[in-house]
Amino acid sequence: MEKELWSSRGAFIMAAVGSAVGLGNLWRFPYVVYENGGGAFLIPWVVALVTAGIPLLMLEFALGHMMRAGAPKSFHNIARSSWVGWGCLLNGFVIVSYYAVVMGWVFVYLYYSIGVQWGDRAEEFFFKDFLGLSSGPGELGGMRWPVLLGLVLTWISIFLIIFKGVRVVGKVVAVTVPLPALLILLFVARGMTLDGALEGLKFYLKPDFSKLLDPKVWLAAYAQVFFSLSLAFGIMVAYASYLHERSDVVGSAIITAALDAGISFVAGFAVFSVLGYLAFQKGVGVPEVVAGGPSLAFVTYPTAIKLLPFGASFFGLCFFLMLLTLGIDSAFSLVEAFVAGVKDVWNISRTKATLISCLLPMIGGLIFCTKGGLYWLDIVDHFITNFGLTFFGAVECLVVALFGRRILKEHMNRVSKIKVGKWWDFCIGVLTPLILVISIVMNLIERIRKPYEGYPGWALALGGWGVVALVIIAALILGYLSRRRFERLNSGPVS
Ligand code: PHE
Repeated sequence: MEKELWSSRGAFIMAAVGSAVGLGNLWRFPYVVYENGGGAFLIPWVVALVTAGIPLLMLEFALGHMMRAGAPKSFHNIARSSWVGWGCLLNGFVIVSYYAVVMGWVFVYLYYSIGVQWGDRAEEFFFKDFLGLSSGPGELGGMRWPVLLGLVLTWISIFLIIFKGVRVVGKVVAVTVPLPALLILLFVARGMTLDGALEGLKFYLKPDFSKLLDPKVWLAAYAQVFFSLSLAFGIMVAYASYLHERSDVVGSAIITAALDAGISFVAGFAVFSVLGYLAFQKGVGVPEVVAGGPSLAFVTYPTAIKLLPFGASFFGLCFFLMLLTLGIDSAFSLVEAFVAGVKDVWNISRTKATLISCLLPMIGGLIFCTKGGLYWLDIVDHFITNFGLTFFGAVECLVVALFGRRILKEHMNRVSKIKVGKWWDFCIGVLTPLILVISIVMNLIERIRKPYEGYPGWALALGGWGVVALVIIAALILGYLSRRRFERLNSGPVS
């Protein structure tokens, strides 16, 4: 069967940027900068981009492009280790199960922004009225139907976008990549013209160079780059497998990383100018209103929007439309990576593979739609990103460095204008895995010292360690099964 391809290199780059640019650019990056030395953080961040982000992006692009397959088959071909590919995909599976729930909140908030329904009590509105938050992870407290509705809408959108293949994906990202970028610019423009904006920006970018001596700041930079470029999820491998045979993968990796970084940096202006305005209106210091994550998106920013002198509904709608288009292409990229992986191993139709890959994480995500859901979301997110992702990221680097570095580099240099040299071997073979291992160890020590956020031990064992262990075990099993299939296919008649 003829492999489907992107309509152009531009469509591929758009899709890769769509995956990379997500909620994290808006609600994670600016907050991480603020917490880790302001403007001074830009130094470790750029270093992390150049020494880990871009080299690993090149690795994933080159691997998918060379093997023309999803992550499990690509890792099988290069190092007989499809389990590594499965581990990446399963991490993504877990992440998309809650990422989609957050997208579901956004869907519902699109509706709430008509008439700014949260009023001047955005916090209560979000946690009490909307999520109906229970007392702790032990009290699920039943389903929150509006959240479930949002989740179903999200999954229907994801299914419709990817079940036909990457041609349609290419058309969708032509909208979902430029639109949020423009909306970010709109918020920068609106934010910068508000009272207190400059004071807010001071907190975003005022450099504290003494922070550069703190190793945690450096680890935060690598973690941010890793997460932001959607590395170690098999996404970039799958996307690159749909490229034409001659396509400059090194150049594409540099462009993708640059666009993602640029959008992160600019998003910080949209966030901190508005935070400055909010602090000014409330007559408090900026640090008192600074937030990241869901609190920023569903409480702080909406509060500020309500205070705008005019057009609050309009800006509310624009804000949630921005979140929707930022996040949806990240969400479906996770699913697409899985579909690609499944289709390489089992001979099923694209529609069927997509349906399964949407239904399973949707069912898994039901727990996050309960009244205790936010606690579980927080636990699963913390453990899967700090342990699952870093573990498979390190293994990915080591496996390629040990078994496939040379042929991958040859391939990369054959198709690309800019050639990579020894520095690339060092970055993926030594530096990046070393940093990932250090961060796993530091996180482990911290987790052993004190339970995450004071959650009860059983909840952490189940939603934290349990989920990570399950991902690793399932990866080994799927790796074993698919390896046998690949070997059988290879020894059979050449197709
Ligand atoms: N890169 C996305 C962001 O910054 C998050 C993401 C992670 C998307 C993993 C897909 C996979 O928000």
